[in-house]
Amino acid sequence: MPLIRALANLMAERPTLALLVRIMRENGRAYAPRYALAFLFMFVFASSTALSAWVMRDVINQIFVDHHPAALAWIPMAILAIFTVKGLASYLQEVILARIGNRFVSETQKRMFDHMLRMDIGFYQARPSNDLIMLVTSSANAARDMLNIIALSFGRDAMTLGGLVVVMVTQDPMMSAICLVGGPFLGLAIKKLSLRIRTAMEGQYYSVSTIISAMRETSQGIRIVKSFQLEGQQRERMRGGIDAVRRMGNRMTAIQAGMNGLVEVLAGVVIALVILYAGWRNFSAGDTPGQFFAFIAALLMASDPLRRLSRTQLQLTAAAVGARMMYDLLDTPVSEKDALGAADLKVTGGEVRFDKVRFAYKLGTPVLIDLSFVAPAGQTTALVGTSGGGKTTIFNLMQGFWAPERGSIAIDGQLVSGLTFASLRRQIALVSQDVFLFDGTIRDNIKAGRQDASDEEVVEAAEAAHADAFIRTLPHGYDTPVGELGTQVSGGQRQRITLARAFLKNAPIILLDEPTSALDSETELVIQRALSQLTNGRTTLVIAHRLATILRADLIHVVEGGRVIESGTHAELLRANGAYARLYHLQFENEDGNVVPLPLRHSKL
Ligand SMILES: Nc1ncnc2c1ncn2[C@@H]1O[C@H](COP(=O)(O)OP(=O)(O)OP(=O)(O)O)[C@@H](O)[C@H]1O
Ligand SMILES: [Mg+2]
Repeated sequence: MPLIRALANLMAERPTLALLVRIMRENGRAYAPRYALAFLFMFVFASSTALSAWVMRDVINQIFVDHHPAALAWIPMAILAIFTVKGLASYLQEVILARIGNRFVSETQKRMFDHMLRMDIGFYQARPSNDLIMLVTSSANAARDMLNIIALSFGRDAMTLGGLVVVMVTQDPMMSAICLVGGPFLGLAIKKLSLRIRTAMEGQYYSVSTIISAMRETSQGIRIVKSFQLEGQQRERMRGGIDAVRRMGNRMTAIQAGMNGLVEVLAGVVIALVILYAGWRNFSAGDTPGQFFAFIAALLMASDPLRRLSRTQLQLTAAAVGARMMYDLLDTPVSEKDALGAADLKVTGGEVRFDKVRFAYKLGTPVLIDLSFVAPAGQTTALVGTSGGGKTTIFNLMQGFWAPERGSIAIDGQLVSGLTFASLRRQIALVSQDVFLFDGTIRDNIKAGRQDASDEEVVEAAEAAHADAFIRTLPHGYDTPVGELGTQVSGGQRQRITLARAFLKNAPIILLDEPTSALDSETELVIQRALSQLTNGRTTLVIAHRLATILRADLIHVVEGGRVIESGTHAELLRANGAYARLYHLQFENEDGNVVPLPLRHSKL
């Protein structure tokens, strides 16, 4: 027990060690047989290194002192054999270790991404995408480095050093003792430099994130960057990141190289002392030179693994920065989990009911305040209102992206909070306000609506969304790539592709967030017709800014300041002469009282 407590204390003091223990504990079993094999070859490598130092005594004594002719035959042969075995072992251990490492990285990256997919929208909102990109691409590598560093240090280097120490001690215990003088200096230096390398490494990650961010924004927002001539500003950001990475890189090199330099100087001191002592022994006691040369050979060979070992702590500390980020992610509890006993949504008619729903993205600034409304089954319900009133938020809550603070949301009487996310989302088709296309072909993007759809069904959906005609004029038709974020198709075309995607999904509940905002009047008219086909008999909630869309609705709710302030049909609301009527007169009529098809967007009630 005291031992365990001591170990626990040590780990609390040494977070790097704790991290390492965790990585090894979690992955040890899976990789144990392969590590055993790698260690076996490291042992062979270490033994042959020690043997090659040992043989030096016979080289000197038998060949150069005693002039044994037989020795001239067997010693070179033995050396050849030793080095062949050493080379082979070196190759095998390196390949095995690399394979373990690569496998570890790929498994961990998959695990991290799976974990991220199970996170809610809030998780993504709290983290810049650059950080997530970096997390997946480099933090697993850092953890792998920790494993490799340990395997190489305690496998190859410690065993080699151990073997060489055995040679040294058997040749001359006194000379071995002299070598220990360097130890305390080395220990002190390791301790001091570890702290510094950690700060440098953290700085490096931060700066790399800045670089990714500047690059991503420039690439995705290149039109805005050029149009507003933001090249200078982007250049400054990028340069800041790049220069910081350079500085941190230099600092880390300086720390590591400083360590190497120190080891060299200490080796010099030790070798000088050893020669002094060996020379004195040779003069006074007549010791054979072979013994001394074997010792020196072992000492020189030891400097290589020793140098690496002395850097172990530094490298571990640096790698731990990334590995810690990996665990920060993996330890974040999955935030999108079905409630205990969640049931599958069974849509009968598709009635949607919000009852006194209260919701805030940020604590203290409510976006929806006791919002209540009903979207009757199988009908089209329009949500209208000023920008920022909370319309898109209603859609977010309906799909379970966020949960309301108070109140309830029910579909056909089933509370959304008690439904499985999968069944809920399967039965809702969304055309969102921000058109989003994946980097793939048009077909891929439509098929995202229902992945098992046939090519005929894809074409049908595109026809219904009035996208088929323009798609056919493209050189590769449905196989035309849309470019990253759909940059190679027009805004209106993008919108029609996302409409086709929703058509294809064939869900009983449809959410349309301004589905026709980027279309010309003629296309809009056609789409409106297509929409009535789509929405026919399905519960449709449409956030409407266009008169045509509003007029098509069976019921209209006016959303303002997080509440539904008015409800009714177009005629009823006009008659009531309230907020809707004001909005209507302001937006859709000119001074002569004639209707003009202006969008309602950004209007003030
Ligand atoms: N993800 C978010 N995090 C924090 N606040 C948000 C978020 N999304 C929206 N908001 C805030 O909530 C309020 C309602 O936003 P919402 O997107 O629902 O408005 P909207 O009615 O759809 O407006 P618009 O007609 O402009 O699309 C706004 O004040 C907005 O700033
Ligand atoms: Mg909106």
